[in-house]
Amino acid sequence: MAEPEPAVVAPGATVAEPAATSPTPWPELVEAACDAVATAGRWRRPRAFDASGPRGTLVDTGRRVVSFAGNDYLGLSHHPAVVAAGAAAVQRWGAGAGASRLVTGSRPVHHELEAALAAWKGAERAVVLPTGFAANLAVLTAFAEAGAQGGAPVRICSDELNHASIVDGCRLARAEVCVFRHADAGHLAELVGTAPGPVVVVTDTVFSMDGDEAPLGAIAALCRASGALLVLDEAHAVLGPDPGPLLAGVACVRVGTLSKTLGALGGFAAGPRRFVELLENRGRPYIFTTAPSPADAAAALAALGVLRSDEGTALRERLAAAVARLRRGAGLPAGRAPIVPVVLGAEERAVAASEALLAEGLWVPAIRPPTVPPGTARLRVTLSADHSDDEVDRLAEQLRRLSSGTPAGQRAGSGAGAGTPTGAGIGAGSGAGPGPGSGAAVPGAGPGAGSGAAVPGPTAVTALP
Ligand SMILES: Cc1ncc(COP(=O)(O)O)c(C=O)c1O
Repeated sequence: MAEPEPAVVAPGATVAEPAATSPTPWPELVEAACDAVATAGRWRRPRAFDASGPRGTLVDTGRRVVSFAGNDYLGLSHHPAVVAAGAAAVQRWGAGAGASRLVTGSRPVHHELEAALAAWKGAERAVVLPTGFAANLAVLTAFAEAGAQGGAPVRICSDELNHASIVDGCRLARAEVCVFRHADAGHLAELVGTAPGPVVVVTDTVFSMDGDEAPLGAIAALCRASGALLVLDEAHAVLGPDPGPLLAGVACVRVGTLSKTLGALGGFAAGPRRFVELLENRGRPYIFTTAPSPADAAAALAALGVLRSDEGTALRERLAAAVARLRRGAGLPAGRAPIVPVVLGAEERAVAASEALLAEGLWVPAIRPPTVPPGTARLRVTLSADHSDDEVDRLAEQLRRLSSGTPAGQRAGSGAGAGTPTGAGIGAGSGAGPGPGSGAAVPGAGPGAGSGAAVPGPTAVTALP
């Protein structure tokens, strides 16, 4: 069920009845909330990693490691042309953008970047926002508001494994939210077909925790036929899919981030001119916040230049080769995305596997609920064009070793594949379908991923620590 809206008391209004009991002091409430996280075994703290690129030192232990945790897929965060563009922008315009662009104006580089992003996405216009998270909030709230003008309620249909920023955008939008079963175009069609008013369909194109892809052909056809607005989050689509050819005749907004493929910081939305102008005028995460810094905008612009050059093509080929090499070497099913999940099920297993890899100098994070649904804790490997063949091979060997139950540091038998005599194997999550808990997709239900509403059926590994 959707969470109830907290009551809002207007300024100047008085609250009728004073509270009968004195409220618990805030320090106690905070302590209890922290304890609840720790007791669940989910306490986390960011680690200082002194690095530029995937190789660096974990400051607390002094240990040199290779990170397979980042989303800097092409290594552009430290490409010389990108670094130089960022540095030159700081020299010219200073560190910060100053305020909202509607108040203080933009730096010219923001406009240049938007023109380049629009050309890249084949759109009339693009607008940049401080993050990809903010871009999803802006798009979902602004279009839900615009759609409601006719008086009929807007329905947002959202894949159950969409990113948290989409989940929160759905929560903020004053619309009915229907969650459809993961990548299930048939279920989506049912929800679109029964909508009482304008419809927004929103989906990641590549899912951030599984690396699998949305059925874009079927979804685009449904939106074309029904007139639904399609919102695509392409944050992880560095190696495709390219939805462009599918979008003729579809009202579509393409959301992206500057922080992953482009190695900087910021987000954007691209689409028809009037759609983007609406975002500039009604998108609160655009209006009431400071623009990306000139350095980030300039770095992203330079990165886009590299991406669209022959060098960018070579980097993408190198990344695709690394993905194939790891999957083959570790005995995982084939897949295109540079996100490679190894679903382990129990949280302790994922944490123990991550620690075992770290002991070998390989940093692969354990991803646990609430980031993924309960029962699907996993290692999440992300690859970069920066990883050497040797580093990819080392990780593949360790993953094989984990799947065979061989302790880290010893050789893993034949190493021929991920299977064990008991049939256990490494399960890539890309084939995970919706499980029994996915019946949350009813009108008014809360958004899925991140809210624990749905449990996909992972391929479990049983031979891990
Ligand atoms: C699918 C998806 N959308 C949006 C975002 C948010 O992007 P940003 O990091 O730019 O806020 C992320 C980030 O992890 C993501 O995975």
